[in-house]
This record gives sequence, structure tokens and C-alpha cells, in this order.
Amino acid sequence: MVSGTALDQGTSRMTSTTTPSTGSRFIGTSNHGYCQHAQEELKRLFPEIRYTLLIPTEVFLFEVPVSAQEAVELIKQKEPMFLRHIQPVDFAWEGSRSDTDLDNLVQWLQQNVNFSAGEKIAVQVRKEERSQAAYTPFSVKQAIDGLLTSVYGAEPVVKEAERIISVYVTATKFYAGISRPKDNLSDWAGGAIRFHKNEEQISRAQFKLLEAEQRFELDFSSYHLALDIGAAPGGWTSLLLERGLRVTAIDPANMHPTLIQHPRLTFLKKNAGDVKLKKDEFDLLVCDMSWDPKQMARLVSDLLYAVKSGGTLIITVKLMHKKPFQTVRELLHMFGSELLLVKAKQLFHNREELTLYMLKQTDL
Ligand SMILES: C[S@@+](CC[C@H](N)C(=O)[O-])C[C@H]1O[C@@H](n2cnc3c(N)ncnc32)[C@H](O)[C@@H]1O
Repeated sequence: MVSGTALDQGTSRMTSTTTPSTGSRFIGTSNHGYCQHAQEELKRLFPEIRYTLLIPTEVFLFEVPVSAQEAVELIKQKEPMFLRHIQPVDFAWEGSRSDTDLDNLVQWLQQNVNFSAGEKIAVQVRKEERSQAAYTPFSVKQAIDGLLTSVYGAEPVVKEAERIISVYVTATKFYAGISRPKDNLSDWAGGAIRFHKNEEQISRAQFKLLEAEQRFELDFSSYHLALDIGAAPGGWTSLLLERGLRVTAIDPANMHPTLIQHPRLTFLKKNAGDVKLKKDEFDLLVCDMSWDPKQMARLVSDLLYAVKSGGTLIITVKLMHKKPFQTVRELLHMFGSELLLVKAKQLFHNREELTLYMLKQTDL
């Protein structure tokens, strides 16, 4: 546990709690239904981890016997597939559910944290529905933003922050922590990344590929030729066309009419098992077939000859029977040494799925 400060409920008096100085606490978030998997992965990294569930199947408090910095380094190095977001708990206290909580938070920040002039600070507040606190997340943010600007001359921002102040409010507790965005695994509150749906957008599936581009720190505009397997109605294809790529899309179903005439699109209206492609043609293969994972893997393996050595693959894997670790193991076994797994991650926009980012190995 971290050393913390407890606040006497209903007063503004802070009292220190003595806790071992070697431990640290975080709030972890997964997609709904997957927190047990995230916890299992964390337990492999920290066998002595302790959990408290905050929102069933989704949000949990965890405590590890190493410093916050060590914990974050290990989590980033061996990033769990199902852990969408973490936020540090530097301080926690009994919430009063009244505006006193906000005064206390501001007081704690003033007494314990330094901000520099012009520093970009984001405030992310999550409040559980059952908390019944009188204040809104926005009023918590307003209270902190007021302090940041008037006392420190810091700059409250929403995106591209240098540091994030994360607040989490439950029915009984108020948790706060400060971190760099990268150390939270996602710079969105709880990892809940929101994209605007625009008028021309063909499918919501497009968000999965957009999120993969951000999460895996890719820049699709640096690729040239993409193969999209299971492309209809064309959300992924249209994103890749927007990024300037030439795209070969395969699907027995129809593509959206707005795409069909696109000069950089070749559409093969076929089952992917029936196509013949040129060898070593594509530098990007994407596949969002929503199929039995083994059948999908067989199909992708059969078309790998068309991907250049060093080419990138982004593949959605359907989690059929909720045995994700076994599924990923089996798929990697099927792909063999030809593909290198860079990262497997359940994205916010994945439902009963996860997304693999792989590289085709260079020929020896
Ligand atoms: C979830 S949708 C893909 C959505 C697409 N990524 C988008 O952004 O619009 C799955 C697609 O896979 C296609 N599909 C399924 N089996 C296929 C196969 N054997 N070959 C090619 N496409 C297949 C389906 O026809 C369906 O259009």
C-alpha cells in the first residue's frame, strides 16, 4: 500500500495513515465482463496482488508490493491483454458526498503536489452511479481547474496532457492520483476512447481500426498497399483509403455503394478462400471477419504469401467460448514462426473480441 492521507468524514482535517512505503495501489479497468481475465494476467506479474472489486466485472482496486513506478514499468513491459486502463491511487479517503470532498481534494493537491506554470494538466473524473454524491464529475474538474489556473498558472487541457489528475468516486470513498498519460495505458478516462461518428461513416466497426491505430502507435498513412479480408460493408477499407492507401478488399457481401467507384479500391466479391493474389504484394493485412478464430487463422495463413516480409497484420479475434488465453495460444501456434505477435489487446471498441497486432517475419 502507498502511504496515504485519510480525511475525517465531514471535516476538512487531514490525518495521515501509516502504511508500508514499498507498495502501491491502482484502479484497473477492463471491458465489461473481462476484469477476471485482467486480474489473472496481473496476478502473473504480481503473485502477491490484492484486489477489491469496485464495479462488478469491470473496475477494481489493486494493491501490489512494489513501488508505483516499478509496477507501471512491469505492466507496460508485459501489458495485460484485458487491462484497458490503470490510474494510480496516491490518496484515498472516506467521501462525504458533499462539496466538502471537493474542498478536501483541492486542499490535498495544494499541500502535496507541485504544478509548473504552463504545464498541461488533464482532470479525469469517474463517479460511480451508486455514489449519490451531490457534485458532478464536471464540478470536480471545475474545482481543480480553478486551482490549476489561479495558483499555478498551469493549463487545464482535455487531450495531450503532460500529467493527468485521476479521480474516482464510489459510494463511500474518494480516490485520487497523478500520473503521466502513458502510465495509464490510455489517455482516456477509464480507457473509454470516444470517436465522433461522422455522416459518411460506413460502419461502427471502423472505430476498432481507428483505435488499433492509436493503441498500437501505428500510422496507416505510412503504408502503401492493404489487403482487407472480410471487408464489407467497408468501414476499415474506407479508413485505409482515407489514409491514402491502395486497398484490395475481399468479401462475398456487398461493399457500401459510396466506395465501389473509388479509384484506389479493388473489390473481390468472393470468399477469401477462393482468391489468388500476387506474392509479396501487401505491406498491411487487416482482417475483421468475426468468424471462428481457427477458421480465420487458417484462412489468413493461406493468404500470408501475399504479404511482404516485415508487413503488418491487424486481426480481430472473436472470443467464442470465453477462453481467450487458450484461443490466443492456439492461434499463435497455428501462425507459427511466420508471424511475430507485437501486441494482443482487447480494445474499448472490441466486444466479445480482441485485436492482434503482428508482423510477418523477415525471410531468412
Ligand atoms: C464484421 S464484418 C466486417 C466489417 C468491416 N470490417 C467494416 O469495417 O465494415 C465481417 C465480414 O466478414 C465477411 N466474411 C465472413 N467470412 C468470409 C470469408 N470466408 N471471406 C471473406 N469475407 C468473409 C462477412 O461477409 C462480413 O461482411
